[in-house]
Amino acid sequence: MPDQEGLKIAKDYQTEVPFANQGGFHVKGANSLDWGMKKHLTNIFDPESGNTVMFAFDHGYFMGSTAGLERLDLVIPKLMPHIDCLMGTRGALRTCVTPANRKAIALRVSSGTSMLNEDLSHEVVAVDVEDAIRMNADCMAVQTFIGADGQLESLDNLSRVINAGMRYSIPTLGVVAVGKEMERTDRFFKLATRIVAEMGVQMVKTYYCDNFEEVVAACPVPIVVAGGKKLPEDEALTLAYRSIQGGAHGLDMGRNIFQSEHSVEMAQAIRKIVHSGYTDKEAYEFYLDAIH
Ligand code: R5P
Repeated sequence: MPDQEGLKIAKDYQTEVPFANQGGFHVKGANSLDWGMKKHLTNIFDPESGNTVMFAFDHGYFMGSTAGLERLDLVIPKLMPHIDCLMGTRGALRTCVTPANRKAIALRVSSGTSMLNEDLSHEVVAVDVEDAIRMNADCMAVQTFIGADGQLESLDNLSRVINAGMRYSIPTLGVVAVGKEMERTDRFFKLATRIVAEMGVQMVKTYYCDNFEEVVAACPVPIVVAGGKKLPEDEALTLAYRSIQGGAHGLDMGRNIFQSEHSVEMAQAIRKIVHSGYTDKEAYEFYLDAIH
């Protein structure tokens, strides 16, 4: 480990220079992976746009029944046509999602806390890689808590899942958690996303922040942006637009879709930004037309 004294502040991100090791494959950082990994990543990231619309409905893993997700069996089927990847727990997927679908699967495999805990940073790996294989998961999602009390165990969880994923060619999605005590600054997200990427994940989920393009430039795998708390629809679309403009390769939204009064139209509008180059204003106009 280098001596930390006299370390220079990182600033040379060259955000205007494209990633240099793309090698003709559409997923950042995946050029040297094998066929199976690339196939899974292609199931998630559209080869034309390079991006993905993930729908996150894994909230129940620590929140129990969540507003808007009370009936997974009703919510997921109506949104399914408008998203690319389903992000959920094996319990939700097996019980409420038909296997007769062509969507990618992001399987949450870490767990161990609930809303009743003060500190959410202590998790375990709750799903064996064999079960991820049985479910034909396209990636396994692990929560990481950089800077929190549970950092070490979450990075241990992450490395176990990455190692298992490498054995069977299943990508790992490192999810950067923001706890109460963690800052939501570009400084924190540059640190956390880069640590997770260097651990060996094939993609990272994190939050949008100031200087987001620098976070993206310093992260050698694709970033998908989490939605966070419910915002007015126009603001959520602006968040989506800024994320894609800043170099994100997709959105992994939950509440801003399933808590919207018009969740289907909201998913469609996000899709326009992610895959069709719409601005936030155009997408909001599309949304307003669609709901009237
Ligand atoms: C985080 O890992 C959560 O379980 C959700 O997947 C994530 O927060 C995305 O959902 P939302 O857009 O509601 O924040």
